[in-house]
Amino acid sequence: MFARIVVGTLALCLAALIAAGAAALMLLPVFPPEIPLAPDAKSASFDRKLAARGETLAMLGACASCHTREGGAPYAGGRALATPFGTIYSSNITPDVDKGIGGWTLAAFTRAMREGVSRDGTHLYPAFPYDHFARVTDEDVAAIYAYFMRSVDPAADAPPVTNLGFPFNIRQGLALWKAMYLPKPMQNDPAKDAEWNRGAYLAEGLGHCGACHTPRNLLGAVKTGQDAYGGALVNGWYAPALNKASPAPVPWTTKALVNYLMDGWDAQHGIAGGSMTAVVNALRDQNEDDVFAIAAYVMSLQGGQRPQSQQEARERDAKAFADKAEAGEPAGLAQDAQMQAGARVFAARCAECHKPGGRSAPLALGAAAHLPDPINVVRATMEGIKPPQGSLGRSMTAFGQQLSDAEIAAVTRYVRARFSAQPAWSDVDGAVARARGRQ
Ligand code: HEC
Ligand code: HEC
Ligand code: HEC
Repeated sequence: MFARIVVGTLALCLAALIAAGAAALMLLPVFPPEIPLAPDAKSASFDRKLAARGETLAMLGACASCHTREGGAPYAGGRALATPFGTIYSSNITPDVDKGIGGWTLAAFTRAMREGVSRDGTHLYPAFPYDHFARVTDEDVAAIYAYFMRSVDPAADAPPVTNLGFPFNIRQGLALWKAMYLPKPMQNDPAKDAEWNRGAYLAEGLGHCGACHTPRNLLGAVKTGQDAYGGALVNGWYAPALNKASPAPVPWTTKALVNYLMDGWDAQHGIAGGSMTAVVNALRDQNEDDVFAIAAYVMSLQGGQRPQSQQEARERDAKAFADKAEAGEPAGLAQDAQMQAGARVFAARCAECHKPGGRSAPLALGAAAHLPDPINVVRATMEGIKPPQGSLGRSMTAFGQQLSDAEIAAVTRYVRARFSAQPAWSDVDGAVARARGRQ
């Protein structure tokens, strides 16, 4: 219902924008001409080293996570991406000349990456995060291009055609969107050191951290200013705030961030689950200095490292709370019949690992129990945890088959009440229904 109202509002907004913008559109370079095919692009020789660097960069950009569909050839496209505007299918970006980008010149590829325009001049939807890739340097784009042309096998798959409802099917409308939201290439900030600038470049550009961690406005553009990195729902998980609103009970430090980003786990923050697992797996293959640089940038979003005494005090408080929560349930839960249903599920299914000295980091220290949305607890319970490569031992059973919707909801409410001091979540049943794919 809510979703429908939002989409309705979106439709109105966009329709109004298109109407109001019709005149403005004429002034914009709306229909960039087609860039001719280069039939010899594939046979042009690409430096092996350049292509290898491009492969590492393509991992950071997570190209495969959207362009490789389940069971499909690498980068052959056809993955269905759910957006508030409808389902968008990713393109075939293998070097196949007919169905992929095999005939594309570097100029056409660069224009797609930075301006979201296909070779034939069609505007692309920002489900392709070119609003982040716009910041990638010529050098890095050329390396990525060399990787696709030299090292990826051509596949002749034709992905399904994206067909959104009116007005989103009018791709020209995207010219206006771009005029409003496409960022300028990044400038070094001379007030900050080289490490911070490197981190900002990687996080804001190829790493597109904000594509998941920043909430979006009604037109699907990431918010800026204070709202940047404020936390958002994406692909059925909640990507926590990375700015000053970070829900982490123990404040992040550079060291903890580096652990989390490289191994996918930190003793005081727990696991990188959901869509963060793939990000961590990609970061593992990056240059270590680059991961430190990203960590330095994320720290700056949170106002920098806290003074030692303040950090230690916050750690002490969080650990005292976690110890108490793990030792037993807070007074009051025993009298609450609904909570007791959750307590029974927890004792039977979860406590074995989630107990003091158990297999997992304390649930009270991880972000999941403290988020504004219950979805990560619901998802972890249903799907279990397939840990990132750096922390392979830390897996968790999937309970989606064994537990009923009511049991999942009950244990979710219980986890909140026992492991967080935040108020109860309002729509746990809705989150379970969404995770089951019914809403
Ligand atoms: C979050 C998902 C996502 C990620 C990550 C992503 N893409 Fe895409 N990409 C898409 C979608 C969806 C489209 C099709 C958009 C449309 O049809 O309007 C697309 C389109 C493209 C196109 C245009 C193809 C054409 O035929 O017009 C190119 C080139 C491309 N992506 C390259 C890349 C590269 C290189 C990377 C990694 C650096 C990457 N993409 C990462 C989702 C993604
Ligand atoms: C076989 C051991 C095991 C069982 C059983 C288990 N877990 Fe976990 N759980 C883990 C591990 C390991 C992790 C991740 C490691 C860490 O955070 O240290 C984890 C992580 C989590 C997280 C954090 C997820 C995230 O991505 O932030 C939640 C929430 C969670 N478990 C809830 C539950 C609930 C609820 C149950 C019972 C229905 C349960 N777990 C049963 C081992 C288990
Ligand atoms: C495809 C979506 C996506 C992208 C891209 C992404 N993240 Fe995440 N991130 C998530 C999700 C979802 C979680 C929650 C994981 C969980 O609860 O287990 C998360 C969790 C985190 C956390 C832990 C926060 C906390 O307080 O527990 C950090 C730190 C983080 N991400 C940093 C980054 C950085 C840095 C980047 C860019 C290099 C990035 N993320 C890119 C989806 C994403």
